[in-house]
Amino acid sequence: MRLTPMTAVSVLAMALFSVGCGSEKPDSDADKANTDGSTPHAESDKPDASGEKSNGEYADAAGPPSEQVKSMFGGVKAEIISAKNPITPAKVELGRMLYYDDRISANGTISCNSCHKLDNYGVDSLPTSPGHDGTLGGRNSPTVYNAAAHVAQFWDGREADVEAQAKGPVLNPVEHGLEDGAQVEEIIKSIPGYAPLFAEAFPGEEDPITFDNFARAIGAFERKLVTKGRWDSWLAGEGAALTGQEKAGLDLFIETGCVTCHMGPYFGGSIYQKLGAIEPFHTADMGRFAVTQNEAEMNFFKVPGLRNVAETGPYLHDGSVGSLEEMVTIMAKHQLGKELTTAQVTDMVAFLKSLTGKIPDEYIKRPMLPEDEG
Ligand code: HEC
Ligand code: HEC
Repeated sequence: MRLTPMTAVSVLAMALFSVGCGSEKPDSDADKANTDGSTPHAESDKPDASGEKSNGEYADAAGPPSEQVKSMFGGVKAEIISAKNPITPAKVELGRMLYYDDRISANGTISCNSCHKLDNYGVDSLPTSPGHDGTLGGRNSPTVYNAAAHVAQFWDGREADVEAQAKGPVLNPVEHGLEDGAQVEEIIKSIPGYAPLFAEAFPGEEDPITFDNFARAIGAFERKLVTKGRWDSWLAGEGAALTGQEKAGLDLFIETGCVTCHMGPYFGGSIYQKLGAIEPFHTADMGRFAVTQNEAEMNFFKVPGLRNVAETGPYLHDGSVGSLEEMVTIMAKHQLGKELTTAQVTDMVAFLKSLTGKIPDEYIKRPMLPEDEG
């Protein structure tokens, strides 16, 4: 059985109430959220919890998106602009080089691309990543694709944007491992070919090779690391771009309440939530608490975006979960207090796989890097 669009919205409203306020609201209240005055959903519209489906049954889930679904998930951008750091071709070219340049690290072997491989959906596919001396960091490397659109950067949101973020790894002792911004500038200045590129990217500046400009160039490059795919074609009205099963998985994603946290065009990236919001989930990582010192945010993490999620495992902030099936089951249980059937998990995973976009092969091509002196 499939959800009608209005059912999806009213169930979403209920889920929002229960997650947002921590209390169940009676149906009548939730249904008031249907501002267009449509008929409240009937209980019998809910999918059968035991629901094994035959292929034929998926057929009626197919078709183009409803207006509600469009407004829930629409609005993905081709580039994520910032008034503070306008994207220019010269900045992007420079940022791409710096992104790939492993000389900007303590031992000359680590670049951003070591952990965020652009031809591998922006991840290294490891639970946690080895840095310049092989020491593993404590967190999983999230993807850089679509990350610029997030409300803040890192699992705990400790940096505001991709420009501020880019300064972190170069100085992180278990990543690039450099001393300070001055050392970064020194290395860049030791590679003569960079001077004209910085001058072009930051015109009118007396001394354009600065740590800040290093971060701005990389940030501008990252602001166009956006992926689109079949999902976006479907959302634009191409009804056949998603299969009936993927569409059934989407309905479940909405109806189960996943969308209360994984919302908007990136399916996340816009709020922080507790890992174990409903049922405790053990983790030693304090998450957002370490940033805000607010007890109420203990074990809160930025809700990750789910675009390309089928390609960005292993999952969670510590990379402890290997499969999407397991991930969906954990989320339903610990974030929503719900048990899904195997068939529901399969549908949901099919939907999540439909969020895989196309890697922009031309844009991410490894450039010729300026040569060392002599
Ligand atoms: C040694 C591996 C490693 C290297 C090298 C590295 N990163 Fe990361 N990156 C990580 C890890 C791990 C995190 C998550 C850390 C956290 O949340 O505390 C992260 C987080 C990020 C994020 C945040 C994404 C999000 O969804 O919040 C961005 C953007 C990013 N890195 C870009 C870069 C750039 C640009 C460089 C090069 C200047 C770089 N990284 C170098 C491992 C690495
Ligand atoms: C109450 C908020 C909330 C709800 C509801 C929720 N999630 Fe999550 N989800 C999170 C947070 C927070 C994380 C990251 C936790 C961490 O890394 O420790 C996460 C992580 C994930 C991940 C791993 C992504 C990655 O890159 O590591 C997947 C997949 C996921 N959720 C899918 C779902 C699905 C499917 C549902 C519905 C069954 C769901 N979530 C419901 C908050 C939520």
